[in-house]
Amino acid sequence: MADVEYLRSLLRPFPDWPKKGIVFLDIFPLLRDPVGFETLITHFVHRLTSHTIAKSPTKKIDVVVGLDARGFLLGPIIAMRLGAAFVPVRKKGKLPGEVVHAEFEKEYGLDVFEMQADAIQPGQNVVIIDDLVATGGSAKAAGELVAKLGGKTLEYLFIIELTFLKAHEKLDAPMYSIVKID
Ligand code: ADE
Repeated sequence: MADVEYLRSLLRPFPDWPKKGIVFLDIFPLLRDPVGFETLITHFVHRLTSHTIAKSPTKKIDVVVGLDARGFLLGPIIAMRLGAAFVPVRKKGKLPGEVVHAEFEKEYGLDVFEMQADAIQPGQNVVIIDDLVATGGSAKAAGELVAKLGGKTLEYLFIIELTFLKAHEKLDAPMYSIVKID
């Protein structure tokens, strides 16, 4: 529990940014703090190696999917610690070769996520990671991409959850977050 409070203390709130009424939670002070960053990564790895979802040999995590853009700061390190693959989900038009697409709703209109079509093999176990979950729209789209390729999402992981937006109701697998904002 001390870990969670330490991580929470390293998040920096910016009221009314990027627009009035939003309290933006900046994760970069946490990444600037070497003990904080190590604590964060170890917390996620411990979750993924000690929790029951990871205990059965059939539930080995094959792939860590990170969401554009801050999921790219966490996913590769966690994947490397687990001996898993890292796969990025990117905004439309950034990935070469054949891709699969999923739409999601943003504050203004629709956006599109893409994943390379050969990035996940049918039957592989996947976890999806990002820094923050708000409505869950982008995480849900990432889960759809995993499902399109025949992967199985075991869990969605976030540093921060805005609990009042109830993202878990949208997702097809359990969700885990370290810092909950009510
Ligand atoms: N993304 C969506 N809402 C956010 C918030 N409050 N802080 C940081 N990133 C966000």
